[in-house]
Amino acid sequence: MNEIQRNIIISKSRLAKGTYEFWIDNELIAGNAKPGQFVIIRTSEKGERIPITIADSYGSAFRIVVKAVGKSTIELCMKNEKEQLFDVVGPLGKPSEINYYGKVIVIGGGVGIAAILPIAKALKNAGNVVTGILGAKTSSELILKSEFSFADKVVVCTDDGSEGIKGTVVDGMLKEFEMEIPNIIWAVGPAVMMKTTSKVASEYNVPIWVSLNAIMVDGTGMCGGCRVLLRKEEDGGIKEEIKYVCVDGPEFDGRYVDWDSFIRRLQQYKEEEKQALDKFLE
Ligand code: FAD
Ligand code: NAD
Ligand code: FES
Repeated sequence: MNEIQRNIIISKSRLAKGTYEFWIDNELIAGNAKPGQFVIIRTSEKGERIPITIADSYGSAFRIVVKAVGKSTIELCMKNEKEQLFDVVGPLGKPSEINYYGKVIVIGGGVGIAAILPIAKALKNAGNVVTGILGAKTSSELILKSEFSFADKVVVCTDDGSEGIKGTVVDGMLKEFEMEIPNIIWAVGPAVMMKTTSKVASEYNVPIWVSLNAIMVDGTGMCGGCRVLLRKEEDGGIKEEIKYVCVDGPEFDGRYVDWDSFIRRLQQYKEEEKQALDKFLE
């Protein structure tokens, strides 16, 4: 009997410097994935398990977009067509709450644009008026812009002004708010970007879903590695709650995320990450 060969890379292409798109053959993941969900990938037997968003699926394959920032993402980006990933678990996490809301703004920063794309498409299919705000450091790092042609409006922001508005996605967001306040927002990108967009949303009292890029280990809610503190005003007091990004998220209302502790936790293994990368590059 033939053994089913899953997790073979069907295609790979470079979207920007250090950022690659892969289509991976796995009919179980492709057939069940919903917007907002992710997979955990181990590139090799001794590899670390890294969470990556499912950016699309078609037939028996699903798509991921990966930015090489450390040992494991570099190792993944070095894989080529026809090679097999050691293991892929998913789809994981709760799907995005796709409903009719009216006017929606979706914000993607850097490689976060790939994660926001399936959510934006699903929101459009649900009848919403969708504005996409896409941010990158510079024009050559702006990915997947042409795939947002379904959106009612697309606003581009680059830090250096090489395309669109000169500034971050927050500048684009504030310009849109001058015209109309949306009913809801989704934002995916670097933690500081999600923090600042959440601050603006909070000031205008607009719900904002952010997809937290926590450090994950098991992805099953057991190890506690991905925990996040939520803080909400309730009944005249402050209610604090611990949640696990892998099973309770990855999306949370950014207005209630304790951003300082979240960002601190992201930096807790910086020295070990540097050592792992240096050893890998030797
Ligand atoms: P590490 O050794 O773990 O980290 C290397 C260093 O890079 C760290 O110090 C870190 O602070 C820093 N760093 C992190 N991000 C950046 C950056 N953008 N630029 C510069 N430095 C950075 N990543 C994707 O590329 N695509 C995705 O679709 C995606 N989806 C995710 C979905 C979820 C639910 C989560 C939790 C994370 C997601 N990430 C995604 C992030 C990805 O998991 C991490 O980048 C990866 O685990 C890093 O592993 P590493 O070993 O390569 O780097
Ligand atoms: P980047 O550093 O190139 O930044 C992209 C854009 O984000 C900038 O151009 C700017 O518009 C905005 N931004 C950055 N810093 C900002 C600040 N201080 N204030 C306001 N806006 C700011 O992005 P990158 O290197 O591609 O990193 C993308 C991040 O997205 C990674 O950290 C990755 O982990 C995360 N991510 C998360 C998920 C998820 O589902 N949780 C999915 C994909 C990517
Ligand atoms: Fe272990 Fe979420 S990754 S609890």
